[in-house]
Amino acid sequence: AKVTFDYSRTAQFISKEEVENSKVLAEVAKKVLVEKTGAGNDFLGWIDLPVDYDKEEFARIQKAAAKIQSDSEVLLVIGIGGSYLGARAAIEFLRHSFYNSVSKEVRKTPEIYFVGNSLSTRYIKDLMDVIGDRDFSINMISKSGTTTEPAIAFRVFKEMLEKKYGKAEAAKRIYATTDKARGALKHVADEEGYETFVVPDDVGGRFSVLTAVGLLPIAVSGADITKLMEGAASGRELALNTPFEENDAVKYAVIRNILHQKGKAVEVLANYEPSLHYVSEWWKQLYGESEGKDQKGIFPASVDLTADLHSMGQFIQDGSRIMYETVLEVETCEDEIVMGEEAVDLDGLNYLAGKNVDFVNKSAMNGTILAHTDGNVPNLLVKIPAQDEFSLGQLFYFFEFACGVSGYMLGVNPFNQPGVESYKKNMFALLGKPGYEAQREELLKRL
Ligand code: PA5
Repeated sequence: AKVTFDYSRTAQFISKEEVENSKVLAEVAKKVLVEKTGAGNDFLGWIDLPVDYDKEEFARIQKAAAKIQSDSEVLLVIGIGGSYLGARAAIEFLRHSFYNSVSKEVRKTPEIYFVGNSLSTRYIKDLMDVIGDRDFSINMISKSGTTTEPAIAFRVFKEMLEKKYGKAEAAKRIYATTDKARGALKHVADEEGYETFVVPDDVGGRFSVLTAVGLLPIAVSGADITKLMEGAASGRELALNTPFEENDAVKYAVIRNILHQKGKAVEVLANYEPSLHYVSEWWKQLYGESEGKDQKGIFPASVDLTADLHSMGQFIQDGSRIMYETVLEVETCEDEIVMGEEAVDLDGLNYLAGKNVDFVNKSAMNGTILAHTDGNVPNLLVKIPAQDEFSLGQLFYFFEFACGVSGYMLGVNPFNQPGVESYKKNMFALLGKPGYEAQREELLKRL
């Protein structure tokens, strides 16, 4: 079983010739990516990561995860953007839908909360209530080591940890994932003696889920990170060594570029499983930061279905024709709920008696795909064989590789994010950070 890409439902929008005509450009983009000769080529460490990762560190991650599982009821994962979304996507995809609230007997591993991805006082306060006086540990994740949101959360929760355990004991409960040599977090970690894990120089935030950034929290959740890496390795093999005609990742890049050229400005990623919500969030960062630059790019959006069919469904079906839809389909459902039959058919659902709820879900999906296609929304389908680690590893790699190819086809550097800096400069100036005095005066006049 493997992750596959099906664009057969774009036949009324895209001809075979158009796909064929993109072959040369796509193959050049792929070659530039794999041979590392294009823009941003010092951030391509993710390409070989699934087959060439630090095994010693991988073992240390598993050991640290086992320690956290044994001495903590709660793990706080502090990070934002690329230092946050991959781990959350994986844990929500792989583990219980109500991971933090289901009983300990079912979960078996620590509760996991993400913080440092906003500046909300209320969120931080409420999280403190959730921890209460229970044992906890912290995984602080920041490649640069200087990002404001996680740095602030870290100060707050480090203080809470130190108050509870004393400085020396607290240090044994803090795990820092950061650059191997640079940055404030690395300095604090060295100074205080935290265990550290490395974000490799050549792996950017949004491509870092298969480094310690994602792997430590995912391992703590009880998911199998070895299988995740195996899935990614198989995704790599498929992406690198399959000819154009059958290369799903390259084809996805091709189709989205053709649709973009035809005027589609928005890609809506749709799922039919609530546990895929954060896979979509991860995907949005991956494509939004990689392609949204130089006044170009497709705007990546997402919907959770069938919920959003009762809100955004109207727009997709019938609003401005600016979008195409990519459906994430989980092909198999491990569990089964069979509809019962009632003696008196008051709710009119007896016609479904004996049917699976997943059959209803798939019927909703297939009906929606046809309706949206009829409404002139081209439909792409990414099929995920199962909600397991191997499939997720493949899926991560599929999207990452396609993103690199797609970005080069678009003519941008997919591996930088210059636009992310603008708000930070303004925020630092308004906060009165040393060095920003002139901007501060300017901005205050405008407020
Ligand atoms: O993709 C990116 O570069 C960003 O989303 C970063 O991942 C995010 O800003 C967090 O950065 P850092 O890991 O340096 O704290």
